Amino acid sequence: MTAARILLIVGGGIAAYKACELVRLIRKAGHEVRCVLTGGAQHFVTPMTLAALSEQPVHTSLWDLKDEAEMGHIRLSREADLVVVCPATADLVAKMAAGIADDLATTLLLATDKPVLAVPAMNVRMWQHAATVRNVARLSADGITVMTPDEGPMACGEHGPGRLPEPAAILAAIGQALAPAARRLAGRHILVTAGPTHEPIDPVRYIANRSSGKQGFAIAGALAALGARVTLVAGPVALATPPGVTRTDVMTALEMEAAVQRALPADAAILVAAVADWRVAANGHKIKKRPGEAPAPLALVENPDILAGLAQSPRRPALLVGFAAETDAVLAHAEAKRARKGCDWIVANDVSGDVMGGETNAVHLVTAAGTESWERLAKAEVARRLAARIADTLEGPA
Ligand code: CTP
Repeated sequence: MTAARILLIVGGGIAAYKACELVRLIRKAGHEVRCVLTGGAQHFVTPMTLAALSEQPVHTSLWDLKDEAEMGHIRLSREADLVVVCPATADLVAKMAAGIADDLATTLLLATDKPVLAVPAMNVRMWQHAATVRNVARLSADGITVMTPDEGPMACGEHGPGRLPEPAAILAAIGQALAPAARRLAGRHILVTAGPTHEPIDPVRYIANRSSGKQGFAIAGALAALGARVTLVAGPVALATPPGVTRTDVMTALEMEAAVQRALPADAAILVAAVADWRVAANGHKIKKRPGEAPAPLALVENPDILAGLAQSPRRPALLVGFAAETDAVLAHAEAKRARKGCDWIVANDVSGDVMGGETNAVHLVTAAGTESWERLAKAEVARRLAARIADTLEGPA
């Protein structure tokens, strides 16, 4: 990693103390770091601490004339190679999303022409609030890289996603943001489907499955982190959109198929979604329970196979990857599925345990060259490895 200049904007949250460790790690990695503290941040860490750790002046106020004379806020925002906001509090995220510039930190963020990496940390309810979800999506659409917070016990006593990622993970994200070489999929368009589909039985009931969407969302995020333009067609799940990903929400298999068609052409398609094989024949009215009568039969109609359809399509992506959720004879079924569906790879997993909804996955990658079995990994790590393999393949000889 070559030496870079980093502007670190520290927001006012309890996680601000971890900015001290981050400054230490950034320096150790050979980079220069200049810190800006919001008013709130100064309640958690002092400018003196960060000045000592960074060996650079620390900036706190837009109205510090000395700063303005020596280094205007425009220059401060432009001299950096990368702007890192850590912790990005709910308030700071909201101001960034709205383009508010009412202090030094937010003015720098609006004035900068450099890549920005935001590292959110906040209470779980604040992170999951519709306003924050909207703001984070806005930042991603604006090209800002937003790290996903860690899950676990929080300083406020609650539990959930919202914790600041470990400083070492933030340093890794900084490295990725700084290294254009890491953007191996820049210029590529990749389509990902994820989550379950809901097939209505009548206007108030539906058939669903246990897919959480986590693995597909992680894959979309990992591909975007390598610079790909990613279209994520998501079934009904309550997951945050990964940074840099364009998301289309759908409910049914038919809607998913239409969204996939609309997203073409693509260089690769990774169909992770657990698509319902059948839908219920149209029923526009609520099915009524009538005392003494037998239950209404459900007439099922086969859904289109999106993967097999794409494999036959003249607009077939150069690399087509399917998933296989199996409960027995995993490899034999996966190999047969690869041939039957006409895709290039099948990522097979055994879903007889707690894979659906869980955080880890043990997968087998079935390709024309054979089968590789990966050890049990976090879904994010499965996603990173798969994204790297996709990059290898798209970069390789045509
Ligand atoms: N798939 C799809 N459209 C469907 C059903 C499945 O695109 N209507 C895709 C999934 O996204 C996944 C792959 O096909 O990539 C395998 O799905 P799976 O449900 O395991 O396969 P099925 O065809 O349903 O086979 P089986 O039920 O026999 O396992």
